[in-house]
Amino acid sequence: MWNEQDWQALAEHARRCRQQPISGLIAAELGRQTAFARKLGPLYCNFARQHLDSQAMADMQRRLQDSGIQDQVRQLFDGVRINRSEDRAVLHTALRSNLGTSPEALSAHAEAQAVLDTMSDLVVRLKAQGITDILSVGIGGSDLGPRLVLNALAEFGNGGFRVHFLSSADGMYLDRYTAALDPEKTAVLLVSKSFGTQETLINGAVLKAWVGDSERVFAITANGARAAAFDVPPDNILPIWDWVGGRFSVWSAVAFPVVLGLGMPVFREFLRGAADMDAHFLNAPISDNLVYWQALMSVWNRNGMGYGTQGIIPYDERLELLPAHLQQVIMESLGKSVTLDGADSTQATSPVLMGASGNPSQHSFFQYLQQGIGTVPLDIIGVVTSGHSQPTNHHFILANLLAQAESLANGQPSEDPQRRYPGNRPSTVMLLDELTPYALGLLLALYEHSVFVQSRIWGINAFDQWGVELGKKIATGLMPYVEGDLTDLSDLDPITRELLGVMLKS
Ligand code: F6P
Repeated sequence: MWNEQDWQALAEHARRCRQQPISGLIAAELGRQTAFARKLGPLYCNFARQHLDSQAMADMQRRLQDSGIQDQVRQLFDGVRINRSEDRAVLHTALRSNLGTSPEALSAHAEAQAVLDTMSDLVVRLKAQGITDILSVGIGGSDLGPRLVLNALAEFGNGGFRVHFLSSADGMYLDRYTAALDPEKTAVLLVSKSFGTQETLINGAVLKAWVGDSERVFAITANGARAAAFDVPPDNILPIWDWVGGRFSVWSAVAFPVVLGLGMPVFREFLRGAADMDAHFLNAPISDNLVYWQALMSVWNRNGMGYGTQGIIPYDERLELLPAHLQQVIMESLGKSVTLDGADSTQATSPVLMGASGNPSQHSFFQYLQQGIGTVPLDIIGVVTSGHSQPTNHHFILANLLAQAESLANGQPSEDPQRRYPGNRPSTVMLLDELTPYALGLLLALYEHSVFVQSRIWGINAFDQWGVELGKKIATGLMPYVEGDLTDLSDLDPITRELLGVMLKS
């Protein structure tokens, strides 16, 4: 955790850097366009349009080193119980790489490898059963990651099944799916680490009755007992473990829908990309380490520049679900205001994450990004070689990516204030050579590790999520009122009572 002196130094750097715009920093620092760029395999990141100078960057890197961050990274990989409030290890890295040295980490890796084989066996069985469609039911981390990966990599493989996702308890999609799919040829996957998530259980109960045969109901869970109590046959339960956080679980059997949709070779390549990011994170020096660069930019923008929002803008439609996935990874992990020791944080923590695919967004919210009052630093993500056969379209996308990053930073003066572009709006440009399973693995693991580093700078726990519990508890208490089983509303919160009254009247 950074101390008072670190934060004071950051504030001092920010005061100095603010004295000139980003374009001034670029003009003043010869060679910055390459000095502020790093590449790992197919992933190139250019940080030159962030609003800080190399003195600030070097000092932050030194402070990070001095804070003992690398020992903390080692603890992560070795499965030390760093998720203190839940007393759990955090070993999602063991799902894809074998870099831990402790017995816990080694056995976690071995267990994860064994589940890959179980998934392959299940694929064979499902094909033999004549299954054509998979309905994957899960929410949050049990939905967003696999949905993103399947959508992003659709052209890379065919696992032999059509895969559909159902997350919300809103019954509309449930009705649509049950109307469109054949229950005899559909397998229902109930993806829930806890197997206690109400949305998944409510949808699951309807679907269990709809398929009519529990042989076609599967569970991916760390709570096999609950799945068994839900009548899921033992051979249909794929394990995950309490050392995998939901939002970090896309590397586990939670991604079984990816295997079913795209095939195991694609999933293994995806894991290989993440494994290489793990090795880079663990071994590359801080000054050359993409993870530390990425994390320090986030901290700089949040605490140095005071920006409360961060944008993720992929210029590739295949990554359109990336912002939603990263919203959970970043905001559920870093949306904390209490430090590991239970003290109130003296620093701002997670920004609000927003974002959508870049080209359509230019015609909706980019007005705000260019001329709005607030500054939103962006991660602009592009793919150099497209996956399609339309060169003009692709060149147009790349030209627009370049133009937006440039215009946001440089702006344009005008005598007419309405037509003035203030500029000085920071961005990082990240370019993948191609959007392959490997490259996607690298990219997602980069953000995960960046979150860990940020959490350690702020001294908060990135791996719990107590903030989601209160609403769930109140909803459970209100359910009998909404269902009409309890009619005396007098003990309810007065505004809730009024709103419920309106609902019950209509
Ligand atoms: O309520 C938040 C949360 O616990 C997330 O952290 C998690 O990804 C999601 O719900 C789903 O949880 P589960 O996989 O246990 O159903």
